[in-house]
Amino acid sequence: MHPVDARQVIIAPSLLAADFARLGEQTREIEAAGADWLHLDIMDGHFVPNLSFGPNVLRALRRRTSMPFDVHLMIAPVDPYVHAFAEAGADHITFHPEAGPNPHRTLQLIRSLGKKSGLALNPATPVESVVWALDMVDILLVMTVNPGFGGQAFLSSQLAKIETLRRLIDDSGRPIILNVDGGITPETAPGVIRAGADALVSGTAVFAADDYAAAIAALRPAAQH
Ligand code: DX5
Ligand code: ZN
Repeated sequence: MHPVDARQVIIAPSLLAADFARLGEQTREIEAAGADWLHLDIMDGHFVPNLSFGPNVLRALRRRTSMPFDVHLMIAPVDPYVHAFAEAGADHITFHPEAGPNPHRTLQLIRSLGKKSGLALNPATPVESVVWALDMVDILLVMTVNPGFGGQAFLSSQLAKIETLRRLIDDSGRPIILNVDGGITPETAPGVIRAGADALVSGTAVFAADDYAAAIAALRPAAQH
């Protein structure tokens, strides 16, 4: 069990669940409501069965907020697009090792551009798929749904993976942020935080709420309310 109260849990609302006709306003509204990062889901209709948006949307929003842009690439290949997202305002660039062809090179590329690098684990992706990268990543993102859509049900089968990664990160002594994405609600967040998450991505549970500040606060541990 992880010492929950001692940690400030990062909340990263996912823009995928926002009103796409009002992305600028929605970004400012969730920043004012206490969001720490803005999570941006990039989908190519190929690596995942859905399309979202690209670097032009980041560039337009970059002027509206000082929140770090936590970019989640669900695209294949990755490398040809890393420069475009970095230049458009990404602060963190996380991708899936299955997107290939050479995730080690992709991590080097992201860091060479001065951005934080991240690897994402699908529900079926084992911990072993990222162990080689512990000295090259700033973020590990555990998917608690299959990537591609917002509003899916949380997969509690992933809690053991979060616990294992927490131990690996602590043993490594490196400041890797453990981020968890998919189906995060006030009901599922406490277990994810107990398992060792540092950051929570949440789309539907934040943007479908009437009161964004209350929705964000409801995801934090009780001691931080
Ligand atoms: C799924 C995305 C998630 C999604 C989360 O492919 O990576 O970031 O937007 O949405 P909710 O919180 O609704 O599961
Ligand atoms: Zn995501």
